[in-house]
Amino acid sequence: ALISMRQLLDHAAEHGYGVPAFNVNNLEQMRAIMEAADETDSPVIVQASAGARKYAGAPFLRHLILAAVEEFPHIPVVMHQDHGTSPAVCQRSIQLGFSSVMMDGSLGEDGKTPMDYDYNVDVTRRTVEMAHACGVSVEGELGCLGSLETGMAGEEDGIGAEGKLDHDQLLTDPEEAADFVKATGVDALAIAIGTSHGAYKFTKPPTGDTLSIQRIKEIHARIPETHLVMHGSSSVPQEWLAVINEFGGAIPETYGVPVEEIVEGIKHGVRKVNVDTDLRLASTGAVRRFLAENPAEFDPRKFLKASTAAMKAICKARYEAFGTAGNA
Ligand code: G3H
Ligand code: 13P
Ligand code: NA
Ligand code: ZN
Repeated sequence: ALISMRQLLDHAAEHGYGVPAFNVNNLEQMRAIMEAADETDSPVIVQASAGARKYAGAPFLRHLILAAVEEFPHIPVVMHQDHGTSPAVCQRSIQLGFSSVMMDGSLGEDGKTPMDYDYNVDVTRRTVEMAHACGVSVEGELGCLGSLETGMAGEEDGIGAEGKLDHDQLLTDPEEAADFVKATGVDALAIAIGTSHGAYKFTKPPTGDTLSIQRIKEIHARIPETHLVMHGSSSVPQEWLAVINEFGGAIPETYGVPVEEIVEGIKHGVRKVNVDTDLRLASTGAVRRFLAENPAEFDPRKFLKASTAAMKAICKARYEAFGTAGNA
């Protein structure tokens, strides 16, 4: 059944687990997520980005998620809009039937320009008023995703600040977070702790200086009732980088957010963990390997099946590590 994010995250907080929120663009991802959830008895958050809507079209994405609900009626599913850039964008998703929306007022309507605190409060509060009237949950974001080493946001295209960010934008301030939640009434709060979108998060395995789990603890201590959200939480599996590069890819050395650091965050109020890049890497590695090893194959279902299996294994591992398993 389709449920709101608030319902799911309240349950997660009560029982001390986190929920991976996987981005979805196509059938294979949707199937991987649902089969993994089914086999681990996990509740699901699937999220659609602006890029996904551009790729697949909003009606296709919507029906893909509704098809998942129909095929797996025993699994609770949150249909979430990722990184909305204005109240109007969120309103359209609410009209389409999304049960949760993110109003990312940390950036402007272009999804690139860092905005000030008052703008963020204004657009987020307006979105909450509209969404709550429809029983839809809202995720807000305070602080900008980006590298504590370089001050850069990472991703070249898609959602992410353009240009260099100030150090104080890269770590969410606990006092400001308390004020923001009170002023806006958000159901969940995305925070900045040194992660960024995409595969290029850290040039070496992160330390406390580049990934601040400490900051999560400080924010959670200040607002223990607020459900915290980690963006840019792919772990960038070294084994999939190796497969991609073995079969013709060229991805330079790079590191993600270790699963055990996310698990530490979940002990301190993190309830939603956004993962997109890991499924992309697994899918690409599996397809490259399949086609290299089966050069005479030309039925896309064959290599897409390999893609689905690889993504499903990542989903299962996250459901198990985050404690989501057994909570459907
Ligand atoms: O917000 C970042 C997600 O990874 C979505 O990426 O805009 O390329 O679909 P995308
Ligand atoms: P990754 O790029 O680390 O998978 O993050 C995805 C994300 O935060 C989507 O909002
Ligand atoms: Na989101
Ligand atoms: Zn994000």
